[in-house]
Amino acid sequence: MIPLVVLALVVAAIILHLLWPFLAGRGGAYSTSSVSATEWAFRRIGVAGRRVYDLGCGYGVILALAKRMGAVPIGVEIDPLRWLICSLRCRCRVILGDMFQVPLADADVVYIFQWPSVNARLAEKFLSELRPGAYVVSYMWEVPRLKLVAYEPVLKIYIYQV
Ligand SMILES: C[S@@+](CC[C@H](N)C(=O)[O-])C[C@H]1O[C@@H](n2cnc3c(N)ncnc32)[C@H](O)[C@@H]1O
Repeated sequence: MIPLVVLALVVAAIILHLLWPFLAGRGGAYSTSSVSATEWAFRRIGVAGRRVYDLGCGYGVILALAKRMGAVPIGVEIDPLRWLICSLRCRCRVILGDMFQVPLADADVVYIFQWPSVNARLAEKFLSELRPGAYVVSYMWEVPRLKLVAYEPVLKIYIYQV
């Protein structure tokens, strides 16, 4: 009986962990981007030597890619467990917190894989904080109001420039 209760608690904790950002109303739940799609976008932009933010960096798959490509990766993650794993894995700056609260004035490239409603809210932030010429790369979903410079329909990746 006790093992069953423990098992139920563990399963509930895992579900809560996966859904926390969504339940907290601050962003999308966890899923990972396609690395080949993101690599295509990063090659097209040329990220070497540039500051690349991943807003909602999860376990750090995209930050690791940016680092391999010579960029200066900076992550933001609201979930403490993902933040910890990402920090240990990427050995780069990973901010534990809400991406809506993190200033983006020094960003050269901002990467996102969030839901459409979140992208719409982020668009406001990008327009008010990003410097002219900065790029926004979005996997899977469009970002309204930004200038689209490239879209790869098979890879489902959008590149915007402010
Ligand atoms: C779909 S995953 C993307 C993970 C990673 N960027 C990738 O592409 O593989 C979305 C991530 O955003 C995080 N997230 C959601 N809302 C957030 C917020 N307001 N601030 C920071 N991170 C957030 C989630 O915890 C989750 O790890």
